[in-house]
Amino acid sequence: MTLSHDGASRTSNNELISWVDEIAKMCTPDTIVWCDGSKAEYDRLAAELVEAGVYIKLNEEKRPNSYLARSHPSDVARVENRTFMCHEKEADAGPTNNWMAPAQMKAEMRKSYEGCMKGRTMYVIPFSMGPIGSPIAQIGIEITDSAYVVTNQHIMTRVSQKVLDTLGDGEFIKCLHSVGAPLEPGQEDVPWPCEAQIDDKYITHFPETREIWSYGSGYGGNALLGKKCLALRIASNMAREEGWLAEHMLILGLKNPAGEDTYIAAAFPSACGKTNLAMVLPPEGLKDWKTFTVGDDIAWIKPHTDGTLRAINPEYGFFGVAPGTSYDSNPMAMESMKENCIFTNVALTDDGDVWWEDIDGPVPDHLIDWKGDDWTPDSDKPAAHPNSRFTAPAGQCPSIDPRWEDPEGVPISAFLFGGRLSKTFPLVYESFDWDHGVFQACTMGSEATAAAIGVSGIRRDPFAMLPFIGYNMGDYWQHWLDMGQNREKQGLKNPKIFRVNWFRKDDNGKFMWPGFGQNMRVLEWVVDRINGKVGASESPFGLVPSYEDFNWNGLDFAPEQFMQLTEISRDAGLAEVADLKVYFEQFGDHLPADIEAQRVAMGERLENSVAIWRTKDAA
Ligand code: OXD
Ligand code: MN
Repeated sequence: MTLSHDGASRTSNNELISWVDEIAKMCTPDTIVWCDGSKAEYDRLAAELVEAGVYIKLNEEKRPNSYLARSHPSDVARVENRTFMCHEKEADAGPTNNWMAPAQMKAEMRKSYEGCMKGRTMYVIPFSMGPIGSPIAQIGIEITDSAYVVTNQHIMTRVSQKVLDTLGDGEFIKCLHSVGAPLEPGQEDVPWPCEAQIDDKYITHFPETREIWSYGSGYGGNALLGKKCLALRIASNMAREEGWLAEHMLILGLKNPAGEDTYIAAAFPSACGKTNLAMVLPPEGLKDWKTFTVGDDIAWIKPHTDGTLRAINPEYGFFGVAPGTSYDSNPMAMESMKENCIFTNVALTDDGDVWWEDIDGPVPDHLIDWKGDDWTPDSDKPAAHPNSRFTAPAGQCPSIDPRWEDPEGVPISAFLFGGRLSKTFPLVYESFDWDHGVFQACTMGSEATAAAIGVSGIRRDPFAMLPFIGYNMGDYWQHWLDMGQNREKQGLKNPKIFRVNWFRKDDNGKFMWPGFGQNMRVLEWVVDRINGKVGASESPFGLVPSYEDFNWNGLDFAPEQFMQLTEISRDAGLAEVADLKVYFEQFGDHLPADIEAQRVAMGERLENSVAIWRTKDAA
């Protein structure tokens, strides 16, 4: 039996209407609702979720129009080992992705999807990643049986009838999601339905047909399919085919005291302060600079007819990690979530507001923790889950860039690549050229916390895309090389590429760099390098600033400290080169020759270097 729904009055796209019918037949929901993205729809669904005990309405005076959801304790994060890139050929998924042939995966998943929406409503969400109608934007349709997903999608993407009108009879990305918890007649629902067993969850992508099938999880990155699934895993395939870049990058605008704007895009693995950098404010001593947020997580970057590379933030909101966020660490994030937000897995205060570890102010005497239990400061467990989140409209961020919705995007002048590395890597260095910069991005990573991976103990996360690249990692590196090399052949200027590391520690295990707002000093040097206003010294790793190249106004930092922060040990560098040799082997024929050549050249530079290179040693 096919359910009646109002699809035909909402769109003339036959492909879409028949896909909705096909999914309804497979998943057998009780009702189908086509979403319009209106405030009335949001309020209605939020009220239903409150009624059902899924959402807790927060204190209207303290946190207007905001809600708290608590997930099932098993459903708190992305599930990388259940994430699959189902290319027709296994080699196209590459050694860093899980793979299964599309037909086999679909057959297996159909068994799970069969009847999975019984007793539930199936929502059809038309959404745009990027400003509706922008030449860089993409339209997706998400089918889901979760009203939590619908309300979050209202914040994270642009949901509206206008999306369907703009789509017309055109192509869209099919995104199917189910929490995987059918309800028998009379069966009471639970606040967070999902498949509790990890092996019953699937986050699956079919790049050749541009489809996403997600089953069994309600958690953000697994269920809000516009984000990691569409905007990174599917879009990276599209970008490769069409000659652009879909990246796990924040986009930041910097206005110097002369009023000149520079935009940078920066990639960091999860838990390296990406949202903080996206919303960084100039510290004391640099107040004549201004900063602007374009995006905090994803950048789509395309060549523009004016010869620049233009970036848009395809998202409409922030899905940020709450713990650690405070007026001290990130005032702009705190301001962004003052109202109209959804919080997931944070703690609830006795006066109906939210709380998490390291938020401002004293620790309350009593809270309800993320599992719904009483919590006091004596408790040995965190009150908020470490991966608890806020979903906040990007437009509410006071530092949002006036051009953040410019359909043409903003011109990118530099890429920054970072990681969390306590040893070996200087605070910042600039690559010698494009290929060397791509090599820096291929080799980035963070220190492994548990068992060491490789001799250097680094968990490699190239371009911060390890969990998000939608095809063979080696081919992705080649795509980056090709993008820059082709531009150079056309006489076009490429963005500069920098590696940064805020996390170097001294012999006593203390961070050597204050970080947070002080990172603006690094950004000032980056902008001045772009504009040719400041020097750098040639090291075996790349071009390193000397003490004199930085603006120290407002910060007491000794030249000796800075030299330690930027020094390069020949032995540690050679260990890195050796570790990379082993790491690169897994890519076989897909390892670009230019990347291996960069590794060899790095080894040669180090062999010819002094035991400990310092800026004063530069010629
Ligand atoms: C995220 C992530 O949630 O990178 O943005 O894990
Ligand atoms: Mn991310």
